[in-house]
Amino acid sequence: MAKIAPSLLSADFTKLAWEMERLRDAKVEVLHLDVMDGHFVPNITFGYSLVKALRPLAPDLVFDVHLMMTHPLSYIDKFCDAGADILTVHVECDDDIDACLDAIAAKGVKPGLSVKPKTPAEAIKPYADKLGYVLVMTVEPGFGGQSMIYDCLDKFSVVREICGSDVLISVDGGVNAANCAEVAAKGADILVAGNAVFGASDMPAAFAGLSEKVG
Ligand code: DX5
Ligand code: ZN
Repeated sequence: MAKIAPSLLSADFTKLAWEMERLRDAKVEVLHLDVMDGHFVPNITFGYSLVKALRPLAPDLVFDVHLMMTHPLSYIDKFCDAGADILTVHVECDDDIDACLDAIAAKGVKPGLSVKPKTPAEAIKPYADKLGYVLVMTVEPGFGGQSMIYDCLDKFSVVREICGSDVLISVDGGVNAANCAEVAAKGADILVAGNAVFGASDMPAAFAGLSEKVG
């Protein structure tokens, strides 16, 4: 059964403690946290201090932390210590991917690798045996609220072939009520949804509606 992971990027940053309560009440299990460095992507969001601050407010939520950073390696321990449960780096980053994945695994955190829309899924192949999670980007990373690039969904079968049945496949970008059932049917385990959840006038109802469609 696929799960919807609301993306914190679209939450109300003036009321984050309240947002964490709303997520708990809505029975959200996975929270997606987008870290942007202003270099790998043309946007800046937040760092490990915020992950650390939110952690005690939501001890049962799976924190799925997505690092859109050119140089994530030297920050991996900090994000793991801050409370990430899944930590994802980009295959297109400038650091040594094996070193990143090894550092994540050494902390007992699930290592993830992400591919941007124009990167072929085969790029993850050299790292397959280290991966617990593969994040397929379906928009150019950097901003919420974009439209899904549907061609990217064809990568799921390639990821499954390369990594096997145990890897979690996540899809990130442009997920909404109209496309989530199709995305789940194509093989995604986790569907990240920012605008479609936090942008809704009734966030718990939007989350429940999406969850029902992918369940
Ligand atoms: C984009 C981020 C996404 C984003 C998705 O760079 O990685 O996680 O929050 O937002 P929506 O669901 O609005 O496309
Ligand atoms: Zn993301």
